[in-house]
Amino acid sequence: MSFSDGVLRLEQPREEWADSVMDFRQSFADAGEDFINGSQQLHRFENFSSWLGAVRLCAAGPNGPLGVPSTLFLAFREEDGVLVGCIDVRHTLNDGLRRLGGHIGYSIAPPFRRRGYARRMLLLALEFARQLGIKEVQIDCDTANMPSAKTILGAGGLPVKEDILTMRDGSSLAVTYFRIPI
Ligand SMILES: CC(C)(COP(=O)(O)OP(=O)(O)OC[C@H]1O[C@@H](n2cnc3c(N)ncnc32)[C@H](O)[C@@H]1OP(=O)(O)O)[C@@H](O)C(=O)NCCC(=O)NCCS
Repeated sequence: MSFSDGVLRLEQPREEWADSVMDFRQSFADAGEDFINGSQQLHRFENFSSWLGAVRLCAAGPNGPLGVPSTLFLAFREEDGVLVGCIDVRHTLNDGLRRLGGHIGYSIAPPFRRRGYARRMLLLALEFARQLGIKEVQIDCDTANMPSAKTILGAGGLPVKEDILTMRDGSSLAVTYFRIPI
């Protein structure tokens, strides 16, 4: 299953993209980012095949770290096939995801930011969520993460509330929750 708006194309990961995925992963490390949001923890995997196996397990059922089925898409630029982003759609919510994470998480590789790709990628992922039968997407972001908040607003997100969460390590995190009727 793939989704395109003529500029970006969402595809589920396949073996043939191993090099692109590992280059994508490296671009975050090069920019000093040790976490890749919405990548099903690609940052933790040195090995592409292990990551792909984990991604496929998540799509098949509630076997991944989130505890619900989720489908990961890679976003390729149509004009040259460059991998610019990733986005993960959780098929349903559990208490953990309602608190933090929501239905969708995503990242754009640092070299490709501020070109409107995140908004496009999110809109394409909403198309998939609609096909899953989801009527309203819940999505949240760190309140300080202005680029992500603007991305969500640009894709039709409506702010619902803000909360201060206490994280496992005792730190506090201000989170803004949005809903996107689809
Ligand atoms: C958040 C993120 C995905 C945005 O990607 P992007 O492709 O640069 O975003 P876009 O170009 O589509 O821009 C979306 C909006 O954010 C704004 N924006 C993007 N980067 C910005 C920045 N650094 N400062 C201020 N605004 C910014 C854009 O101007 C645009 O707003 P507009 O619609 O009002 O014009 C990207 O910064 C990223 O991957 N960050 C790390 C991972 C992350 O935070 N994921 C989200 C977790 S909830």
